[in-house]
Amino acid sequence: MSNMHASKLFDVKDKVVLVTGGGRGIGEMIAEGYVSNGAKVYIASRDIKACEATAARLNKQGPGKCYAMAADLSKYEDIVKLIDELSKKEQALNVLVNNSGANWGAPLDEYPDAAFSKVMNLNVNKVFTVTQKALPLLRNAQKKDGVARVINIGSVNGVDPPALETYAYSASKAALHHLSRVLASRLGPEGITVNTLACGPFQSKMMAATLEKFEESIVGGLPLGRIGTPEDVSGVCLFLSSRAGAYTTGATIPVDGGSLVKAKL
Ligand SMILES: NC(=O)c1ccc[n+]([C@@H]2O[C@H](COP(=O)([O-])OP(=O)(O)OC[C@H]3O[C@@H](n4cnc5c(N)ncnc54)[C@H](OP(=O)(O)O)[C@@H]3O)[C@@H](O)[C@H]2O)c1
Repeated sequence: MSNMHASKLFDVKDKVVLVTGGGRGIGEMIAEGYVSNGAKVYIASRDIKACEATAARLNKQGPGKCYAMAADLSKYEDIVKLIDELSKKEQALNVLVNNSGANWGAPLDEYPDAAFSKVMNLNVNKVFTVTQKALPLLRNAQKKDGVARVINIGSVNGVDPPALETYAYSASKAALHHLSRVLASRLGPEGITVNTLACGPFQSKMMAATLEKFEESIVGGLPLGRIGTPEDVSGVCLFLSSRAGAYTTGATIPVDGGSLVKAKL
């Protein structure tokens, strides 16, 4: 079969993937995309029960495999432990999806200092640490089969100022987009790509209250006129993780229903 055939071009079968925060929300959608295409997927977050339930659901579907791991990624020691444990199971990691993230909304004059630090720590600082600690496994994957990819889950809020008062979140996502470009430049010569998805609205625990209140106006602001689905975010991750995405690095890819190109008067 030609290398141009979609089954080869977008193949992720047997690739080893780590999705942080893969137990629910966008992370679960992404994990499902990999498992559905035969990858071996580790999902990690604080709520091991949620991760185990997701792993059980995805393992029933197959054909790939999903394994749950516990980690509070806001803590340096937990990141070291997670990657140590992963290194005992796998010699190489093909794809790291830095998806875990937190948000905090509060009026400008009352925005808590501690909340700002908490959001920046998880959404930026610890994405750096997870990536740094995963590098030996990513380098092994690059040597083994030439596929080593980092995908960071950013946001349209890191590009356009949002209407809601999520100061730390927006700043953290803008920082994450730039960190991805810096890492892409540094790691390109090692054959490791680093890209960001600037996600628009997807149904999740983080977005539940916002969508409950503002879904109509949010959808009205999207040229494509709908909230994102698992296929929308998984499709881009599969592209970036397969042969098809091998020449794309340092990109901030909108997965946002067109929110960033909505015409304004
Ligand atoms: N939904 C949207 O519309 C949207 C739009 C743009 C970008 N995003 C981004 O998408 C990513 C996923 O968010 P979501 O919308 O799917 O929200 P979500 O359902 O609240 O998921 C957040 C995930 O992050 C994990 N997490 C939070 N704190 C953690 C910690 N200390 N250590 C490890 N994991 C932690 C959570 O797991 P535990 O609680 O078990 O730790 C959960 O799996 C985030 O980076 C978010 O900023 C979402």
